[in-house]
Amino acid sequence: MVQHKSALLGHQKDARFSFEVERYRKDFPILSQRVYGKPLVYLDNAATTQKPRQVIEAIDAYYRTENANIHRGVFYLSERATKHYEEVREKVRDFIHAASSKEIIFVRGATEGINVVSQSYGRTFLKPGDEIIISHMEHHSNIVPWQILCNQIGARLRVAPINDEGELVVGDYAKLFNSKTKFAALSHVSNALGTVNPVKQLIQMAHEAHVPVLLDGAQAAPHLAIDVQDLDCDFYVFSAHKMYGPTGVGVLYGKQAWLEKMPPYHGGGDMISSVTFEKTTYNVLPYKFEAGTPDIAGVIGLGAAVDYLHAIGMNAIQAYEQHLLMFATQTVSKIKGLKIIGTAQAKACVLSFVLDGLHPHDIGTVLDREGVAIRAGHHCAMPIMERFKVPATARASFAFYNTTEEVLVLERALHRALEILK
Ligand code: ALA
Repeated sequence: MVQHKSALLGHQKDARFSFEVERYRKDFPILSQRVYGKPLVYLDNAATTQKPRQVIEAIDAYYRTENANIHRGVFYLSERATKHYEEVREKVRDFIHAASSKEIIFVRGATEGINVVSQSYGRTFLKPGDEIIISHMEHHSNIVPWQILCNQIGARLRVAPINDEGELVVGDYAKLFNSKTKFAALSHVSNALGTVNPVKQLIQMAHEAHVPVLLDGAQAAPHLAIDVQDLDCDFYVFSAHKMYGPTGVGVLYGKQAWLEKMPPYHGGGDMISSVTFEKTTYNVLPYKFEAGTPDIAGVIGLGAAVDYLHAIGMNAIQAYEQHLLMFATQTVSKIKGLKIIGTAQAKACVLSFVLDGLHPHDIGTVLDREGVAIRAGHHCAMPIMERFKVPATARASFAFYNTTEEVLVLERALHRALEILK
């Protein structure tokens, strides 16, 4: 978890000197590109991260030497692909410290994971009049599936407010719980603001009211060491592509006791144990939730990403990124007219901002010509934009392969945007 600023400054120093960022950068072929004749400065990591050659090569090797369908074949290649695929499940279990690999479901991404839970859990255990708590800082993927569920079954969404710093107001969250509250779905880290929520506390409070909690970990898994047993969350979702793996694959973790009670979300091959026209019985966990041929190569790429992160160490990544975030915050804060949106005490590597009189899309366009890739827009979190009374922000989001030199390029590019657009 992100530390208080004073504590942070202490270990940043060590991180700065021991973290081998230049060595890691060499693993990412795309980072050596030039765009418009300038070195690429990739600062849109909250949207998707770049992929190290270890991930690219694992996917390539799978297709070159292993490609076969899994769980079906009795031949060498299929058995090898199955073994590899299931080994990744175990790697992911270890990565998030789940109790059992039966609790690891491969899905298309965090969004699909939330849809599985909202439909499978929600339509089984919630009834008309029940309430679901989310927060004001959720990504659309943790709002819309719950709205769909509410419309289907007549349940109601309750929204925990945030303060001007972009922190969830814990006292107000507590007040939302009542006898009708049946579920809470919260982001671990906000994609638009970078806020790291005090999720352990929020889960404990929900559990005291006998309410299960899903955490959207899409922006947390790349930056923080995750321990689902310590957090005691009931469900946790994240996407491979935001943690240096491929697009189209992600993970739904669920406590086994819940997953056993939930019906499948998709029907099809592999998720059954027997089928007749009269009756189908379902496969055991985790296969009950994995209908059809999955993205086998994607899962293998995810496994390579987990290995890669493991080799560097999530604690080292977190410490270095905190140093980078602090440096970036201090550097851009000096720019006249720049306002950071999201100044929580505990933040991951996201810097959202507005610049007096400039539209974020125009800032993004000028920065692009300087080789700097950022995202400008509502970041799939329109309610948070409305909360801060801005139509959009410019957002620089960092990864462990970014450098302080790149932050200085961002700073110069922002001055250039001011020159051109003012
Ligand atoms: N959720 C991604 C983002 O924050 C796409 O940019």
